[in-house]
Amino acid sequence: MNVNGQWIETKQANISILNRGFLFGDGVYETIRTYAKKPFALEKHFERLKYSAEKLKIELPDLSLLTSIIYEGIERMTALIEDEEIYIRLIVTRGTSEFSLRIVSASPDFILIFRPLKSSGKEGVKIKISRIRKIPPESIDPRIKAIGQVDKILARLELSEDEYEAIMLSYNGYLAEGTMSNIFIVSNDRLITPSLETGILSGITRDVVIEIARKKSIEVEERFVELSELFNADEVFLTHTSAEIVPVRYVEKIEKKIGSITSILKAEFREYINEWLSNKNPG
Ligand code: PDD
Repeated sequence: MNVNGQWIETKQANISILNRGFLFGDGVYETIRTYAKKPFALEKHFERLKYSAEKLKIELPDLSLLTSIIYEGIERMTALIEDEEIYIRLIVTRGTSEFSLRIVSASPDFILIFRPLKSSGKEGVKIKISRIRKIPPESIDPRIKAIGQVDKILARLELSEDEYEAIMLSYNGYLAEGTMSNIFIVSNDRLITPSLETGILSGITRDVVIEIARKKSIEVEERFVELSELFNADEVFLTHTSAEIVPVRYVEKIEKKIGSITSILKAEFREYINEWLSNKNPG
């Protein structure tokens, strides 16, 4: 891993217990993955990181420095593992301060963790509707990807081992998102997903899926979605960086089929990645 520009073994890495990321969850993060050992959608991840950091007034390190560390980390990992893709966790915290929550001008810390990517190719998972509701977006902007995640932890505590994801509703009862993924449903051949104004993270995989669906002339609706629409949907899938499109087999006890639109989108996603890889300088 890399801490503030220094390469170090994970077990040897030290971050102060006065780090505000540790004390207060005062930091931002991105989860990035590679395809053919190239970091996917790096610019979009940086854009989102910048958005999160600006909202929390955390100063980001130079993005070209982060880029070169990401490429070097991928090279180092490639020397250790051949076949697997790489999972990259990029964290920036406000730095160290005293125990007080009072905002001080600290010097931010950044950490990059590199791991073999494990969660690719999940099929037919089970999801649960969480009792945890999202905070109104006017109150806490859900597009801030912050490391403090008490709502997500409470939601995941409700899961049993065979359940993959906890789906949270918005404060006013609309379908929102999972703790680590966005959700899509298919109903009468239309692809439907909660709109950003519902109060969700603007997922990078979600964006790609919407783009490729429209390219395939699949009708896409981004809007407020009722919970009953999820229960009645023909197909349901989740999207997130490390596992791309994850078909859902069970919404609680209701069985769903892994239908043709999900399969088309999965195939098109592969195609999208192949095209991206065949560009000379994928970014
Ligand atoms: N999670 N919604 C939430 C609340 C998320 O935390 C994430 C990402 C997503 C999907 O976004 P993307 O397609 O950009 O990965 C949606 C990452 C994977 C994480 O928590 O590590």
